[in-house]
Amino acid sequence: MKIVVLCGGTSPEREVSLNSGRAVAEALSQRGFGVELCDVSSISAFIKKWPAHKADGTFIALHGGWGEDGRIQAVFDAFGIRYTGSGPEACMLSMDKTAAKFAFAAAGVPVPQGFIATREDDGAARAEKFLAEFGGIIVKPNGGGSTVGVTRLSDISDYRAALELAWRSEKRALVEEFIAGEEVTVPVMEGADGRAAALPAIHIKPKVGFYDYKNKYTPGSTEYICPSDFPEKINSQLAELAVKAHNAIGCRCYSRIDFRVSENGAIYALEANTAPGMTTTSLVPKSAEANGMSFGEFLAEIIKLSFS
Ligand code: DAL
Ligand code: MG
Repeated sequence: MKIVVLCGGTSPEREVSLNSGRAVAEALSQRGFGVELCDVSSISAFIKKWPAHKADGTFIALHGGWGEDGRIQAVFDAFGIRYTGSGPEACMLSMDKTAAKFAFAAAGVPVPQGFIATREDDGAARAEKFLAEFGGIIVKPNGGGSTVGVTRLSDISDYRAALELAWRSEKRALVEEFIAGEEVTVPVMEGADGRAAALPAIHIKPKVGFYDYKNKYTPGSTEYICPSDFPEKINSQLAELAVKAHNAIGCRCYSRIDFRVSENGAIYALEANTAPGMTTTSLVPKSAEANGMSFGEFLAEIIKLSFS
């Protein structure tokens, strides 16, 4: 079988995606797939060239922007090009963090309190209230990834700069209560019967600061505990909530759901990722390995599920 691994793209996560693409291509070729790595900067140019690849389908290792927000998936559906992972609707919903939180809440998955801040209504008064109540807030672009443009702050005097940074990416900033506690993520994978199940949770412990871009992609800067070291009760709640969140978004094949676990053990879902990172420091490959699946086996399974 020949697979074109799509990576790069034009989003702020381009570099991450190039690394994901390389790691996926290497693991697939080691498993005997025919592989072509393709840095995609234009969907229409890719569509024109597609027949020349003589491939069976694509592996989407694109992050952010049109690679992960459903647009390329919609075009591929229209042209009958097979691709891995979720369809356009789920990708679109998960890329809009506020919309995703509504879907989570509707499925009974707790989420942090938050609001949208725009240039017309920057929500400064609510931000101050959040700061007084929770001691910290997170400001992020509503549709970003890899923590690009995200600020954690504990003083209102830093609020405007945090908004300006988030608005560089898009018009809508999402402002959320900071959940003091731990960062954890749970990959979800569907079986051949289409039923979703959680893979082992990963407890993420950055050595310094919070889990930002640097701590995500600098080897050695973050400690990962997988399967996570939380009490069994928390682990099983995480697994249940991750599956609920995956299904609430309508994800297909696989996803990764990010959470915070508060100091008193309350769990909050932050977001769903339909094209999670596949770099050497990324989380889904670690969890698959903890579940006894090599990275190559995991990718082959994703392809089988996606193309069937
Ligand atoms: N957005 C990055 C690639 C992730 O979710 O892993
Ligand atoms: Mg994300």
